[in-house]
Amino acid sequence: MGNGIAQVAARAGYNVVMRDVTEDFLVRGVAAIHRSLQRDVDKERLSADEKSAIISRIKATTDLNDLGDAFIVVEAVTENLEVKSEVFKSLDQITGPGAILASNTSSISITKLGAVTGRPDKVIGMHFMNPVPIMKLVEVIRGAATSDETYETTRALSEKLGKTPLECQDYPGFVSNRVLMPMINEAIFALHEGVATRESIDGIMKLGMNHPMGPLALADFIGLDVCLAILNVLHDGFGDPKYRPCALLKRYVDAGWLGKKSGRGFYEY
Ligand code: CAA
Repeated sequence: MGNGIAQVAARAGYNVVMRDVTEDFLVRGVAAIHRSLQRDVDKERLSADEKSAIISRIKATTDLNDLGDAFIVVEAVTENLEVKSEVFKSLDQITGPGAILASNTSSISITKLGAVTGRPDKVIGMHFMNPVPIMKLVEVIRGAATSDETYETTRALSEKLGKTPLECQDYPGFVSNRVLMPMINEAIFALHEGVATRESIDGIMKLGMNHPMGPLALADFIGLDVCLAILNVLHDGFGDPKYRPCALLKRYVDAGWLGKKSGRGFYEY
């Protein structure tokens, strides 16, 4: 999702430093931005010159120190508390004392990430949705120590990016995934129990509930490993068995069938 966030920020006129761990990932990220903007050029909603100007505002780097001058950093690394904590500790050292450290996490505690830094008041959740360039929401999550000033700056920035920020408190899954993941998990249980085929389950939710994608296709789109990680956060965080991940989801993740990104999930790609 990092490339989508870099894209919307550069399109809103900001200079962006997009950092990843390898050159390969960066090349893929920049290519995704090209493809996404080209859709708008093809539809004559953006000129080729504007597209070039947007891309020229993005500096791709593997060096974390290049984030030193940022007024806000939006972290979008893998959904793992240890990995994110290490990134936040480094960002706390590298960036200026006034910089906001935001996380695009879908379920990891903002309060915990804040606590590994010396500036928990400046740590906040800025949860974008996929595909970032077209989804309107930014779920803004306030950790236990997040200040009003940090919230206000993040809310205003989200609006400048053309998004609608909606606020919530830091509890497992926030609002988006506390509501979405039980639905996806229930669809997987229905498939596992033979209640209906994948096409029927998705078709029932698309045609009956006007969802743009059925829950199984959406799980593939999000990534089955990500869905499992979020369900585990809900299950551990609330201690309520209603969030237990379906065994079929675990089986697919064990097999490396992670959805669209791996070529196979509940569907084949
Ligand atoms: N960049 C730019 N534009 C894009 C795009 C991208 N990556 N992907 C799609 N679009 C645009 C298309 O160009 C098209 O634009 P126009 O209508 O202006 O021509 C529009 O989006 C619709 O695209 P398509 O016609 O190709 O396909 P579609 O109608 O099936 O829509 C979809 C695709 C937008 C992804 C739609 O299926 C959808 O909204 N799905 C649900 C997405 C969703 O629920 N996302 C949230 C997931 S949860 C999450 O992200 C966070 C988490 O914590 C797990």
